[in-house]
Amino acid sequence: MKLFEVYPLYDVTPVRAKDVFVYDEHNKEYLDLYGGHAVISIGHSHPHYVERIKQQLMQIGFYSNAIQNPLQQKLADAIGEQSCLHDYKLFLCSTGAEAIENALKLASFHTNRKKVIAFHNAFHGRTSAAVAVSDNPGINAPLNKQQEVTFLPFNDEKALHQALASKEYCAVIFEGIQGVGGLDQPSEEFVFTMERLCKKFGSCLIADEVQAGFGRTGTFFSYQKYNISPHIITMAKGMGNGFPIGGILVGPNIKAKYGMLGTTFGGNHLACSASLAVLEVLEEERLQEKAVVLENYFRTKAKGLPHLLKIKGRGLMLGLEFDFEVAALRKELIYNHKIFTGGSSNKKLIRILPPLTIKEKHFDTFFDALIIALKNKDINY
Ligand SMILES: Cc1ncc(COP(=O)(O)O)c(C=O)c1O
Repeated sequence: MKLFEVYPLYDVTPVRAKDVFVYDEHNKEYLDLYGGHAVISIGHSHPHYVERIKQQLMQIGFYSNAIQNPLQQKLADAIGEQSCLHDYKLFLCSTGAEAIENALKLASFHTNRKKVIAFHNAFHGRTSAAVAVSDNPGINAPLNKQQEVTFLPFNDEKALHQALASKEYCAVIFEGIQGVGGLDQPSEEFVFTMERLCKKFGSCLIADEVQAGFGRTGTFFSYQKYNISPHIITMAKGMGNGFPIGGILVGPNIKAKYGMLGTTFGGNHLACSASLAVLEVLEEERLQEKAVVLENYFRTKAKGLPHLLKIKGRGLMLGLEFDFEVAALRKELIYNHKIFTGGSSNKKLIRILPPLTIKEKHFDTFFDALIIALKNKDINY
């Protein structure tokens, strides 16, 4: 049987990984500045993470959500502790898109409305409602296009006010820092306006932290740079360091009802143990705080690079925007310098989403390689 080919693939076959490196079948080492798309938070195969999952698997790996699973409460307590969101409630699922589906569905149940406001360049996933609120017609099938979504530019307070005043919208969904869209951020003033207008007109504010959450940007959630309280927060990627787990945090005003949300796999024993291990390592190794220090180091090193237009992002969700399209440069970094980087819908941007355990010396390796690759570009491209 052949694979259903939906991904353009690089010709690299990782067979093992350790901390910030992955190794191919010939034992060639690659520096991972992509983190498997912002998923690897505490480093590949962290010993504490491996041990905790192993121990859990030997006891019980899975049972359905029809029984008591104290690990879910442990995880809720640990997330509450590290995010300081003690009065939110946790619902667990398995992926980012599923977290978005649940957040939108909950907002719709809560408000009894069905329209959603999302933003230009937003990406929230590939499933039904998640893809509908993603600003990319090419990945929306006719089925998805039935959803009623209004896309607005960030920072257009007038347009937001006008739309929400209709009282037809169940939710405004935003990324504190856009991931796939290319690391743009709403202004501080606009973030406060979103919160104020959602309250005024009875819509839910959903912060999509699937990519930026769990310490990557230097605060536990990226929106926490501002003093706002979204109604719902979505999370996934870094939450499990590669184990599939996602979830939503639900604000105190939204009431649960049996049956309104549900899943077979979400919150299983193994997934909870993986995420607890992530939180333990994040705290023990102070990775969230280190993300800020490493951002400063990255910014200093990047200054003055040829062809560089902008350094974007926050913490360890960073980008270099050049005055040319970077697909060939990223290929050269992988094949000639053995460094993984990320792309985005902005074709001139290299995205840097490393494990949070990265050190200054790894950025030194990257910038040395980048300078050589940029010189080659001037000769060859
Ligand atoms: C901000 C954001 N939300 C949602 C998703 C969807 O997550 P998943 O691919 O786990 O379904 C992504 C994936 O890249 C994302 O970046």
